[in-house]
Amino acid sequence: MTALLELQDVHAAYGLSRVLFGISLEVNQGECVCLLGRNGVGKTTTMRTVMGLTPPSAGHVRFKTGNITGWAPYRVARAGIGFVPEDRRIFSELSVWENLDVARRAAQRPGHWTIDSVIELFPVLGGLRDRQGGFLSGGEQQMLTIARTLVGNPEVLLLDEPSEGLAPLVVEALLAKVGELKAQGLTILLAEQGIEFSLALADRVYVLEKGTVRYSGSAAALKADRALLDRLLAV
Ligand SMILES: Nc1ncnc2c1ncn2[C@@H]1O[C@H](COP(=O)(O)OP(=O)(O)O)[C@@H](O)[C@H]1O
Ligand SMILES: [Mg+2]
Repeated sequence: MTALLELQDVHAAYGLSRVLFGISLEVNQGECVCLLGRNGVGKTTTMRTVMGLTPPSAGHVRFKTGNITGWAPYRVARAGIGFVPEDRRIFSELSVWENLDVARRAAQRPGHWTIDSVIELFPVLGGLRDRQGGFLSGGEQQMLTIARTLVGNPEVLLLDEPSEGLAPLVVEALLAKVGELKAQGLTILLAEQGIEFSLALADRVYVLEKGTVRYSGSAAALKADRALLDRLLAV
């Protein structure tokens, strides 16, 4: 089986500061794969190398058997990789509907996901369609960020710490929604610091440490081995 998305020995740096030291990973069609690790280990940067936001200084990124290393972000998005950034970055002056409309136009990828169908997935957004982005709660903003990416009809969704800063009940609701997307067959690469969100959804896990892959295996194996988990994620 060839992977839908594959990173091969990816290195990356911010200026002179090197942060990724040879990340290799695979995400197969329909899988939910989690990048797990503490703050600062390189989860966001790994996603940025895929999106072309921080192009790799060495190594390769492949998507659907094509080499996309160093492609401009808009090209990566149009090829079918959707990115939900951890800082959310919705337009605070625009309404919920306008935020979705801007994303739909920019992506130019028609498909199952339309403004109507994402509002069906997140009914809460329907009631807020005329509300300015800046007046949404954290949970509503996170839903809008995911919805905005979905209207681009990605084949792979990169979700960067979706649960960050949200109350437990909100996280639970979000987890259910991401679970629905997975059940519908969407391929997902998820970054998380905590294990609750990630191990509930993930099929496989890569634990990062200081810009390298420290462990990879099935989520079930990791869930069953408390001692290993504690060792890998110990502060
Ligand atoms: N824009 C940036 N400029 C310089 N260093 C950065 C920048 N963004 C992140 N870093 C550094 O790169 C390392 C990896 O960060 P990041 O990929 O954001 O990790 P994570 O998402 O796992 O928290 C950290 O040491 C962080 O301080
Ligand atoms: Mg991060």
